[in-house]
Amino acid sequence: MVMAREFIFLALFLTCVTTYMSISFPRGWKDTEISVKPAFANLYAAKRSKFKSLMQTGYLPSTQNSVMTSVPTSLPTCGRPVTNFVFIKVHKTASGSTFRVLARFGRNHGMTICYPALRRKARHIQLSYPSGKLTKDDCRPSPGRKYSLIIHHSVMNKPAMDRVMEPGTKYIGIFREPLNHFRSIFFWKSRVARRIENPLGAFLNTTHDRKKTYSKHKNFQAYTMGFPKRLMTSKNESQIYEEIRTVAGWYSVVLITEYWEESLVLLRRKFCWRLYDILHTTQKLHALHTKKEHVSLTTEQEETHRKMSNIDYMMYDYLNKTFWQRVTNEGPEFWEEVTYYKTLNGEVNKHCNSVGGKRVFPAGKWSQEFVIDSPFCKELKWKEDRWADACWDVVERQNEETKQILKKLSGVK
Ligand SMILES: *[C@@H]1O[C@H](CO)[C@@H](O)[C@H](O)[C@H]1NC(C)=O
Ligand SMILES: *[C@@H]1O[C@H](CO)[C@@H](O)[C@H](O)[C@H]1NC(C)=O
Ligand SMILES: *[C@@H]1O[C@H](CO)[C@@H](O)[C@H](O)[C@H]1NC(C)=O
Repeated sequence: MVMAREFIFLALFLTCVTTYMSISFPRGWKDTEISVKPAFANLYAAKRSKFKSLMQTGYLPSTQNSVMTSVPTSLPTCGRPVTNFVFIKVHKTASGSTFRVLARFGRNHGMTICYPALRRKARHIQLSYPSGKLTKDDCRPSPGRKYSLIIHHSVMNKPAMDRVMEPGTKYIGIFREPLNHFRSIFFWKSRVARRIENPLGAFLNTTHDRKKTYSKHKNFQAYTMGFPKRLMTSKNESQIYEEIRTVAGWYSVVLITEYWEESLVLLRRKFCWRLYDILHTTQKLHALHTKKEHVSLTTEQEETHRKMSNIDYMMYDYLNKTFWQRVTNEGPEFWEEVTYYKTLNGEVNKHCNSVGGKRVFPAGKWSQEFVIDSPFCKELKWKEDRWADACWDVVERQNEETKQILKKLSGVK
């Protein structure tokens, strides 16, 4: 009985808090227009101000405040930024660099992360990978809140994810040119590969994984992105294409590794984010770095891989085409923005790698004024595991806040 009442209190309060957060948080450049406050938003005025100070002194870096309150000048109009999404983190596609950008976004926006509940999985930044099975129990509990973010390794399973996530959650995917992907993933967890002179060539001289529906070398990306196992061995091309279209339709944006920065700009536009949100380190972008990865392959060997991983090739073709269609639809200004973004990001990196410290970046055609400081620079270099820790901290803090609120409420009544 008591439990039930407390839960109702909690639910009510969280609704207020969430509503409050969404109306007090400047979101995008049309913020000033968002001023409708539901009547119940006034209920907990006192607690609201407390929450506000929490937000200001808590996990939001100080720079965020100035970014968020700066007045936009002549930026293109945009609705509300998307703050509930799932990122399907496909191994060896620059998904690590993407993870770092998206984790920062999630942290900055106080998103409720479905963080792996199992320590073993958390350490490997793994959620539903490799099985694709996902229930609420796989996420660290987050009482009273619906999850709004998944960024750890998962296999796309839309029905299962939709059940766990906030309604209306969007999906982001990533895909890499399959031969490049093969060159890179081949060396992942492979000891044999280090001993042989030309492991890629030797591997492709014989056929492999015939009986497997998918493997590290065979339709790995398609599988992770949600292409069903039962159709992996289909010989019916139109059936495969039909399925690829279905799978692609689940995603709001699919990043293409070969055009990673362009993809981020497209994402920014579709999700109504700021350029600030997609700043990233220029340190390392999953380049093919070893000589063995770069080895030249014969046409026959390439053909062997094309046959083995046929669905990945078909899917890449489709997604790359779709990507370029969307870029074309954005108009020539898209490229102006890409150039602007690359220059801006380069400047930010140069600053962080030299003097560091505080610097104001004035508003320009494609971005609002923002400030970076030494914490920002430090975070820019954080690796995935450091960001995974930061995500863990967000979940912890949110749960602690909820606990405090519950405690207060039970004292009040
Ligand atoms: C692969 O096969 C070709 C043609 O049979 C041969 O010339 C080449 O040495 C082989 N490569 C490796 C790495 O075994
Ligand atoms: C191939 O798949 C298409 C679309 O699912 C279907 O209409 C067609 O009958 C299939 N063809 C064969 C030969 O099974
Ligand atoms: C992706 O599509 C574009 C535009 O059609 C094409 O020029 C490019 O070669 C494709 N990229 C790859 C890696 O196939």
